[in-house]
Amino acid sequence: MIAVLVLCSFYLTVESADLPQLPLVPYPQHVSLISSPPAVIDPLRFSFSTQSKSVLLQEVFDRYHKYLRLHDFEQKLNLTLKNLDVVIKDPNEELLLETSENYTLTVKTDSATLQADTVFGAMRGMETFSQLINTYNYTLPSVQITDYPRYKFRGFMVDTSRHYLSVSLLKQLVRAASWSKLNVFHWHIVDDPSFPYCSTSFPDLCVKGAFSPDHVYSQTDVLDVILFAYRHGVIVVPELDTPGHTLSWGGALPGFLTHCPGHGNIGSDYGPVNPTNEDVYPVLKTLFTEITSVFPGQFVHLGGDEVHYPCWKSNQDIKDWMSAHNMSGNYDELENYYETRLLNIVNSLNKNYIVWEEVFYHHVDITPQTIVHAWKPNWKKIFQDATTAGFRCILSAGWYISRISYGEDWQNFYQVDPRSFNDTATPEQLALVLGGTVCMWGEHVDNSNVLSRFWPRASAPAERLWSPAYITDVGFMEPRIEAHRCRMVYRGYPAEPTLSRGHCQVEYSWRRHR
Ligand SMILES: *[C@@H]1O[C@H](CO)[C@@H](O)[C@H](O)[C@H]1NC(C)=O
Ligand SMILES: *[C@@H]1O[C@H](CO)[C@@H](O)[C@H](O)[C@H]1NC(C)=O
Ligand SMILES: *[C@@H]1O[C@H](CO)[C@@H](O)[C@H](O)[C@H]1NC(C)=O
Ligand SMILES: *[C@@H]1O[C@H](CO)[C@@H](O)[C@H](O)[C@H]1NC(C)=O
Ligand SMILES: *[C@@H]1O[C@H](CO)[C@@H](O)[C@H](O)[C@H]1NC(C)=O
Repeated sequence: MIAVLVLCSFYLTVESADLPQLPLVPYPQHVSLISSPPAVIDPLRFSFSTQSKSVLLQEVFDRYHKYLRLHDFEQKLNLTLKNLDVVIKDPNEELLLETSENYTLTVKTDSATLQADTVFGAMRGMETFSQLINTYNYTLPSVQITDYPRYKFRGFMVDTSRHYLSVSLLKQLVRAASWSKLNVFHWHIVDDPSFPYCSTSFPDLCVKGAFSPDHVYSQTDVLDVILFAYRHGVIVVPELDTPGHTLSWGGALPGFLTHCPGHGNIGSDYGPVNPTNEDVYPVLKTLFTEITSVFPGQFVHLGGDEVHYPCWKSNQDIKDWMSAHNMSGNYDELENYYETRLLNIVNSLNKNYIVWEEVFYHHVDITPQTIVHAWKPNWKKIFQDATTAGFRCILSAGWYISRISYGEDWQNFYQVDPRSFNDTATPEQLALVLGGTVCMWGEHVDNSNVLSRFWPRASAPAERLWSPAYITDVGFMEPRIEAHRCRMVYRGYPAEPTLSRGHCQVEYSWRRHR
């Protein structure tokens, strides 16, 4: 207890003004400068070494070699540092939310070592190492960094239903996310407007539900994205949102949706899944069985948000069915009936699931392992109630980066902290808060603009999710987020400006980055 108090008061007295101003995003847990001259490297000949046999680590080395080789102008320098040696303690390469990402990085004038628990920790440390390199004169400060994430769940959500995003674009998003140490790709793969996922069990879903045969993800594409994400330490969580947001399912599955002329979603004659149709449940069972085997990660996201009751209310068959089942016109009960049956199906598939807050709020009987995903402005109450009831939570309220307005807005995302829902929350409650997810809804983005709208704005919540709680000073973040942005530009990404004036050493050029 005393140790805890001492630690707390230590943290409270740390001012970001006392922290070394290094161009790191997210800022590490512990940084101390070593009093020896900076290291000088030759970016074209710098090497990474390891005793580890990991093929995955070799790929990471290749990746960072590539970034170093972007520095294409030579200088006559007195080189002091030729190599970074990487040590990995645990050869296990399974990627779970619990997987350690801890690492320690030591850079001195003439030696550098990175020690990590796992290859994924090594990835985080390699990124930090590369962020330390000053691209004007290829120097790195002598420094000792001990680092680990504050939150285990650091997600980014991408919506590929409202507008299609190419596989190559999804990979670029994943790669950029790894530069900000995010580790969960929440793939909101289908929704009302289109169903681009090509299912093996129901091939018609993407034939009839996608915008066109060019706007689909084959099984090969999906596997490609999952493997690419894995190589960047990113877990893919697919979301099949039901019973609302399912219009695109209808063409392939007659009777699946509720028929409600004049009361459907987005101008259609159809609304949510028809929970009274028994044929719906075997379809869900087959589809979720497929999804949970195609996506090998621990989690599947079941959606459950914004169910459009006016459609159900306008359908006489549903009304009759509800009376026959003693449901007295309360449509929450109908929704619960559906969710309960869906959860029973998914429970049998040995996955953890995530649900949008409505499912918790409507008192559906969810298993204790369920993760509640809050997105509405009253998220603090949801977190208070859900953690009191023992459920784990993640936050997206305040992190809808698809919302734009004139001016700088990353500061708003930066202020949000998932653990700040109640000043009197107990340590047990706080421990149930796993982190959060930055959301890019697809209404106004596609391949043409999603990267620049995403980055570097998403780096602000990414820092909140990784860095110590006391690092909240916008003034401390400002030069770092701008440096991070320029680094992304340097690496070929069209990350947009964050501040109202400024420049990058190397500006983005469409031609240069082809
Ligand atoms: C490199 O070292 C030599 C010998 O110590 C010194 O004369 C020279 O100025 C140094 N060059 C640079 C670029 O620092
Ligand atoms: C990672 O570091 C944190 C903070 O020091 C520690 O609590 C945690 O146990 C470490 N994880 C492992 C696997 O050592
Ligand atoms: C490298 O450049 C930075 C400015 O970008 C400067 O602060 C630093 O002193 C330089 N280091 C050396 C060794 O020249
Ligand atoms: C509805 O309630 C009646 C009277 O309480 C009961 O007999 C009947 O079994 C109930 N029906 C269902 C489907 O629960
Ligand atoms: C904060 O937690 C306390 C203690 O559990 C509770 O009484 C209070 O209602 C909570 N406040 C909010 C805003 O949820």
